[in-house]
Amino acid sequence: MTSQVVPLADAGAATGCLESGNVVVEPSGFFTVSAGEQPLFSPSVLASGKNVSFDPATRQVGGSSLTGALFDTLGAMLSRFSDEALAFVERTCPEYAAHVTRGRTSFRPVEIAGRASSWRKDDTRLHIDAFPATPVQGRRILRVFANVNPHGRPRSWRVGDSFDEVGRYFAPKLHLPLPGAGAVLHLLRITKTARSPYDALMLQLHDRMKQDSEYQQRVPQTAFDFPAGSAWMAFTDQVSHAAMAGQYQLEQTFLLPVGAMRDEQQSPLRILERLKGRRLA
Ligand code: SIN
Ligand code: FE
Repeated sequence: MTSQVVPLADAGAATGCLESGNVVVEPSGFFTVSAGEQPLFSPSVLASGKNVSFDPATRQVGGSSLTGALFDTLGAMLSRFSDEALAFVERTCPEYAAHVTRGRTSFRPVEIAGRASSWRKDDTRLHIDAFPATPVQGRRILRVFANVNPHGRPRSWRVGDSFDEVGRYFAPKLHLPLPGAGAVLHLLRITKTARSPYDALMLQLHDRMKQDSEYQQRVPQTAFDFPAGSAWMAFTDQVSHAAMAGQYQLEQTFLLPVGAMRDEQQSPLRILERLKGRRLA
């Protein structure tokens, strides 16, 4: 089974739709950019890299070249989007409301198509998301994306096989870390907390998927264009996804404990634990 992109109106209980590895899309009217925010729509807002980031907890903006009033406008836009993304999650999945925690917010002002990058950073290859520096310890990565392209251009994605299939194919190639290895990474400050065996396997999976050109070609996959003005939500630790083209996107990351899911057996944590025959987080 491949992942599907399902309009919110057809998703029924959206929670079940997301938990079984689909993307839920609100096709229009999600986030309105104000006139004062128009100058933010240029790659020159970046200091370096491909994202501006915002931490809703500290209200710190990172990665921007802007100063003065425009810097404040950027922070205010990211903060407003972050709040709207949280409200989107709360109304779409009310059962998660008491359990989600907000992570980083990002603004992605660079055109994806034609952008050069190393294979590991190349998000035009199908992959699942995993964090090298901030271990999730088995928690789910739920992300809200909004295409805020001011020229009406879509954001073009591909979605691939279910996590059951991905896990079945790649799990034999994933190696459990040595006992204590995750704690050493924390001591060396390579990670913010100890990297759990689950985090180690998910990082390997991200890399194995991107590296395997034969897999990228043959795996069943569907293309979908998210229109300007739309927003969508997915467990990106589970949904195989690739972003092929598009410019100007906002994104909010949430973390959700597996125990808050309707059916935690569908989580990558429980699927990998079944395949490896041991606890991973
Ligand atoms: C990704 O999470 O792989 C990138 C998504 C995007 O930038 O559209
Ligand atoms: Fe991704």
